[in-house]
Amino acid sequence: MKVIHTVSELQRYMADIQKQQKAIGFVPTMGALHSGHLSLMKRARQENDVLVLSIFVNPLQFGPNEDYEDYPRTLDKDKDIARTAGVDIIFSPGVRDIYPRPMRNEINVISGTDVLCGKSRPGHFNGVATVVLKLFQLVQPDRAYFGQKDAQQVAVIKNMVDDFHLSVDIRTCETARENDGLAVSSRNVYLSERERSRAVHLYKGLQHTLRWITGQAFITPAEAEQKLQHYLQEHIGAQMDYVQVLSFPELKPLHQLEGSVIVACAVFFEKARLIDNVLVHVE
Ligand code: PAJ
Repeated sequence: MKVIHTVSELQRYMADIQKQQKAIGFVPTMGALHSGHLSLMKRARQENDVLVLSIFVNPLQFGPNEDYEDYPRTLDKDKDIARTAGVDIIFSPGVRDIYPRPMRNEINVISGTDVLCGKSRPGHFNGVATVVLKLFQLVQPDRAYFGQKDAQQVAVIKNMVDDFHLSVDIRTCETARENDGLAVSSRNVYLSERERSRAVHLYKGLQHTLRWITGQAFITPAEAEQKLQHYLQEHIGAQMDYVQVLSFPELKPLHQLEGSVIVACAVFFEKARLIDNVLVHVE
């Protein structure tokens, strides 16, 4: 496994691989690797000749009051995990490598950001799209792998690939969960014991919502949102960021529950904001 820290070395190395016409799979991450990242790497390993993993905590996608400074950085441990997943190249650049000067251009995501995390984290998806575009340019992957846990991120990246005619195939992987159903996240380490035991209700609440939606009684999207909000308030008692039921992958409000639907929620705990979602197809 090769570990590369600079843009120029990566470019040199990737140019050689491109010449060999090998299929390149790419998993972009911010590190603090866990079983969610691992599931992406495993799939990418199976579907490609060369597996590139990037580890870069991207300042551009963090808001002024978010956890950029405190974001867990565990490169040595990450290397061990990457090795077991069969990663060929880790690209772990410094901020100055990716942003040697203030950016003069940025991707401005103008659709699909007025809901969910886009609404509560202004500018976040511009930062994500900008760094992912840079990474795609550097790695030039055939396939790139993203987690369904960040459903809006997948939608934003797919739209960018379509809009800019990028020749990369975006593959979405299911949300990896702890035994009790909590979506695995680098931010779960911020939870106190009491919060951790309550956090399980994010997924439980989403599962209840699926049952309410697919049950016999007619329920509107607004009613489903209200019921989930009520459930989360009662069982978690933390401040809610959002509870939304939308069409997927368009992420548009629905008047009635039909077609492909996403139920998503975000909750603030003392030191972490956790998100989760489930998809359902309603006939
Ligand atoms: P990060 O939060 O490190 O996530 C990297 C990838 O792992 C994303 O595609 C995310 O959706 C996926 N992932 C995280 N938790 C998961 C889980 N429990 N199950 C399945 N997949 C999971 O997302 C980012 O980094 C950044 O925004 C990035 C795309 C790297 C751009 O900076």
